[in-house]
Amino acid sequence: MSKKQKAKLIVDGRELELDVIVGSEGERAVDISKLRSETGYITLDQGYGNTGSCTSNITFINGEEGILRYRGYRIEDLCEHSTFTEVCYLLLRNRLPTLEQRETFSRLLNEHSLLHEDMRHLYNFFPRDAHPMNILGTMVNAMSSFYRNVDLLSMRDNIDLTAARLISKIRTTACYAYKKNIGEPIVYPRREQKYCENFLRMMFWSPVNGYELREDHVRALSVLLILHADHEQNCSTSTVRLVGSAHANLYASISAGISALWGPLHGGANQAVMDMLAKIQRQGGDIHKFINMAKDKSSSFRLSGFGHRVYKNYDPRAKIIKKICTKILEEEAAHQPLLDIALRLEEAVLKDDYFVSRKLYPNVDFYSGLVYTALGFPINMFTVLFAIGRMPGWIAHWKEMINDPKARIGRPRQIYTGVRERKYVPIKDRS
Ligand code: SDX
Repeated sequence: MSKKQKAKLIVDGRELELDVIVGSEGERAVDISKLRSETGYITLDQGYGNTGSCTSNITFINGEEGILRYRGYRIEDLCEHSTFTEVCYLLLRNRLPTLEQRETFSRLLNEHSLLHEDMRHLYNFFPRDAHPMNILGTMVNAMSSFYRNVDLLSMRDNIDLTAARLISKIRTTACYAYKKNIGEPIVYPRREQKYCENFLRMMFWSPVNGYELREDHVRALSVLLILHADHEQNCSTSTVRLVGSAHANLYASISAGISALWGPLHGGANQAVMDMLAKIQRQGGDIHKFINMAKDKSSSFRLSGFGHRVYKNYDPRAKIIKKICTKILEEEAAHQPLLDIALRLEEAVLKDDYFVSRKLYPNVDFYSGLVYTALGFPINMFTVLFAIGRMPGWIAHWKEMINDPKARIGRPRQIYTGVRERKYVPIKDRS
């Protein structure tokens, strides 16, 4: 990061010189950290579309060219050659592991894959049909009561242990929530199984039907989790950083991130896409009715799975998921009517000037639900899968922020537009 260039700002006839920060990929930012003290002015940027909250070494996105890299590695290469466990290691340690390091990390994850038995009873206090994202956020927050050393210093010294606990236990927590939801006995993790094998078995094995692992399903799940592992300062990651900036512990910060991810404009979109495709199917498959609704400004309806704050090109993750989707569904010979609808919808949108002029392309959520369905996951688990994938990214950002000597508590400013000062009126005189 260099600071050679300057930007000039003229405010109230006065010229102010501001540093320009240039990132390793040539991105530029005007450093306004002294703006208010020098001019009394602040900036206003609803939704932070033009505002950088930090510098970071973790993920690089070029939205115009559809580039995504984790710690410098192309998402396409990581999906082709790595496992999710390797990518967790990469995001947390800033390097790909050797074979021995990967095996050690994998064993650490499995050592911490069980939930404290007392935590199992917490599930009984949820209604059976509680949304698993609700359970996930609650259980992760509760972990700080079951796994101590959550003060900042201990957290900093034990970050790798806490990271392993969260990456491993989030998967167990999700599977327990699913089994509770369908009324089946929970399935414990096995030490000798790898991350995704354990995950699929804990989800779908039952004493009656057993469960036979399929290599293509294990691989598809690993790639899907890699694709969701990080995405720079998205809403949920920014939430984790903001909560962590107050020196709240990592469990509490991650729990806040899970809540943000649940929103249908963010991670909840993968569930919303499937609900939308199913609705189009129920209404006779008329995609144009839904496209017109999305273009109608008097309607609040939006096409879930399309558009992105950063990607003004095809989301590179959507490209990879679409390929997996087509391959898995062909093998399933499962004539997925929803895939037909999705393909027709994408084709029509990419030709429609309303979407083309606004650079609205399919995003990571558009095809992911179709693959999750083919793997056997129910719709209400889709955003949970997003959270499991995003866990290493959230932790890497929390770790980067908490170890940054320049980090401060996040506290944005505002411009007040309410009523001016009013004289207080005792209640007896109010009308
Ligand atoms: C994720 O940030 C990340 O990195 C997120 C994520 C990650 O990995 O963490 O990539 C994961 O959250 C992906 C996004 C999933 N959400 C959806 O698919 C929900 C549908 N998409 C939209 O709601 C919207 O595109 C957002 C929320 C994704 C982005 O919103 P922005 O950047 O605030 O865009 P905007 O609302 O300013 O829209 C610009 C224009 C508007 O029209 P005009 O005012 O210019 O006339 O585009 C229109 C919007 O109405 N628009 C859409 C649309 N998305 C934007 N119109 C119809 N359908 C849509 N999906």
